[in-house]
Amino acid sequence: MAPVNDPRSSSASSAGAGAPPLRVALVGHGYWGPNLLRNYMELPEAHVVWVCDRRPEALAKAQSRYPAIAATTDLEVVLNDESVDAVLVATPISTHHPIARAALEAGKHVFVEKPMTADTAQACELVELAEQRGLTLMVGHTFVYSPPVRKVKQIIERGELGEIYFVTTQRVNLGLHQKDVSVIWDLAPHDLSILYYWLGEAPSSVNVTGRGCIVPAIPDVAFVNLRFPSGVVAEVQVSWLSPVKLRRTIVVGSRRMLIYDDTENVEKVKVFDHGVDFEEPEGFGEFQLSYRTGDIVAPKVSSAEPLWLEAEHFVHCVRSGETPLSDGWAGLRVVASLEAAQASLEAGGIDTQLAGVDACP
Ligand SMILES: NC(=O)c1ccc[n+]([C@@H]2O[C@H](COP(=O)([O-])OP(=O)(O)OC[C@H]3O[C@@H](n4cnc5c(N)ncnc54)[C@H](O)[C@@H]3O)[C@@H](O)[C@H]2O)c1
Repeated sequence: MAPVNDPRSSSASSAGAGAPPLRVALVGHGYWGPNLLRNYMELPEAHVVWVCDRRPEALAKAQSRYPAIAATTDLEVVLNDESVDAVLVATPISTHHPIARAALEAGKHVFVEKPMTADTAQACELVELAEQRGLTLMVGHTFVYSPPVRKVKQIIERGELGEIYFVTTQRVNLGLHQKDVSVIWDLAPHDLSILYYWLGEAPSSVNVTGRGCIVPAIPDVAFVNLRFPSGVVAEVQVSWLSPVKLRRTIVVGSRRMLIYDDTENVEKVKVFDHGVDFEEPEGFGEFQLSYRTGDIVAPKVSSAEPLWLEAEHFVHCVRSGETPLSDGWAGLRVVASLEAAQASLEAGGIDTQLAGVDACP
């Protein structure tokens, strides 16, 4: 398909005073791409130059919403356009690496959807390439930009929960079965990125039980058990088969406990002043447990859209040279955990150790 509404002839700007808007191109306008497109179209600091998709019908859909937007089926057209500052990749996982690599090689900053790549070798290559070229590489770990997730991070950092004992999380609904990846690669990146953000550490081991109920080769339910170096343990349940949509996380600490429920409209985070205290026996007597059930507090949480905050952060990092919160290393850590989780699942649930991923081989 020939490019239409060629933006190379148009002059950019809608940001008003200050820096000109960042000129971005979106690659992939399937299920998720339209959400990125909407946010970048509305962001004053960005200007969407191109939308690119292999399927002309996907481009027609974008143009029916934004008639003036330029569209092409040819990635080369986007990469050869010198006016494009950054490429947003929202294509299937197996295509992230070749598209992101080509974009970095063409000198473009890159935002790539989660999970960053299909394996750690590919992730390392992108991290190194971005560093060599001095380009921003950011991964779509959307939830680390979500106000309730940030609120929980503050609560943990202030020590309000005390020592974290464990985390359980459910991300299940009657969801779209993916054709090429298991539910682990589709949904667990969210929980893994949230856990790393909250705990500030990557897991040391993982074991997974799961099965492909509908398509045997593609697991659609998985129970991912993680152990962290600090002693925290976590269980992440992910599934595309559930009668109801659950997005619920419980964090239990030595002083307080909390629930983060993303399906709630208002009180997404609730902190419970509940706990159990252990009293050492004085002699040879039995130990005592004292139970506490105090106040339940729902802190105020901003209703800003995570994707908007994520888009603003990407533009800010490109402009300032700051390292994104969800940079390539964060993407690599999630991919390494997914790889280990997949290996455990395929080996019948054995404990799989995770080496540190602070350096690439
Ligand atoms: N951050 C989030 O919360 C979130 C939510 C859903 C999906 N995602 C991620 O978004 C990405 C896309 O998922 P989706 O569900 O939209 O997939 P999809 O299959 O619905 O859409 C992908 C689109 O990319 C196009 N495409 C494929 N290869 C291409 C290529 N080489 N060049 C140009 N276009 C190409 C396809 O034609 C399709 O329109 C995945 O990485 C997924 O994990 C993120």
